[in-house]
Amino acid sequence: MKQIKIGIIGLGTVGDGVIKMFENIQEIVREKTGGEIVIKTLVDRVIDKERDFDLAKLGAKLSDNVDDILDDPEINIFVELIGGYEPAHSMILKALNNGKHVVTANKAVLAKYWDEFNEACVRNNVLCYFEASVGAGIPAIQGINEGLAGNRFNLICGILNGTTNFILTKMLKDNMDYDEALILAQKLGFAESDPTYDVKGIDAAHKIAILASLAYGKTFTIDDVYAEGIDEIHLDDVIFAKKELGLIIKLLAIAKKNEWGVELRVHPVFIPEEHLLAAVDSEYSAVYVDADAAGNIMFYGKGAGKMPAASGVVSDVIYIAKNIINGTAGKNQFVANYDNSKNIQVVDINEIKSKYYLRFNVLDEVGVLAEITDILAKNNVSVATCLQKDVHKENIMPLIMTTHKAQEADIKKAINAINGLKSSKESSLFMRIENEI
Ligand code: HSE
Repeated sequence: MKQIKIGIIGLGTVGDGVIKMFENIQEIVREKTGGEIVIKTLVDRVIDKERDFDLAKLGAKLSDNVDDILDDPEINIFVELIGGYEPAHSMILKALNNGKHVVTANKAVLAKYWDEFNEACVRNNVLCYFEASVGAGIPAIQGINEGLAGNRFNLICGILNGTTNFILTKMLKDNMDYDEALILAQKLGFAESDPTYDVKGIDAAHKIAILASLAYGKTFTIDDVYAEGIDEIHLDDVIFAKKELGLIIKLLAIAKKNEWGVELRVHPVFIPEEHLLAAVDSEYSAVYVDADAAGNIMFYGKGAGKMPAASGVVSDVIYIAKNIINGTAGKNQFVANYDNSKNIQVVDINEIKSKYYLRFNVLDEVGVLAEITDILAKNNVSVATCLQKDVHKENIMPLIMTTHKAQEADIKKAINAINGLKSSKESSLFMRIENEI
């Protein structure tokens, strides 16, 4: 029986999960591919540490030198699980140029260097698969790329980061403090090694760049995505918006077509509590798609964690192994040719139109409301609802408004002007409301 040999770099949480999966799916592999998948070489920075798997039983070589995979002509597939830009970028390029197929779970490297990888894949007739890079085991990449191949996408949006979704859920449902929830998420193994990537929205920005590229057939990189994190969210607003307005806080990654181009943005947002995405809690992730023929579809599941991520990686390895055994590997690429000359502009965040939640912290005095609404009107912002919370300290009153659709630049101008009023005592804040997704 034909054997496909793989080499894996990165024996952290996901690497362990991949090894564990391959220990007991040989029958599935045979059924799917007609052959066997053998882990020949494992590479990690530190090799003399205790492992969750039995190396002798696995029969693999353990090394701290990636060239033991990249220069080994017997190895068909290089599985990159170290994450980050470098050295992952150089290793993947070397693997492709050495005629190896690549499987990676590394959204960061893909969202920066896709064009370079694609060019190397085409030149060397090899494949690069990356299902686990977005949503771990949720097959959103195959789903968008192949399952919905004939559709045009008006919108792709999602809860793409388990860590921040876990934190927001703990804040909303358990009144848990932000820092405490972050530490818990790290313990549970969802967070990136540098959690600023999670909480600042960068991880989700990498992921939406990948999904937008697949959906719109043009490469978008991390530099095209506007990203804001969850670290400036106030618990008060989260609780108030749910109780009084029926709005749920989520960190959404959005790729939306409008008349000028495509909006690519990641930021906290309020969504109606009855929307499907509002029910996506804890470390769960979801990709929500508005496709012209298929309609609205939501891919939902565990978007982070050991075995879910391993599932995504293993599915890619199986697909490539099947192609190698059938003799079709590299004859066509997984991702069709992106046309980077396509005229799809990325819309500047200040140009977007949205509804907004505004909070002003003002003195409870005659005429203050009139001053605020006057500034809003002068900046083309139309108020939809207005609520006043109890005065909480020194005669300062939180005044909450929601708006009809307004342009982001106008909202920012109005807020600046309101912050300059004598009656304004603390910085005002705004949060976008997405109720048309
Ligand atoms: N840190 C990521 C998350 C892991 O929290 O979703 C999966 O990419």
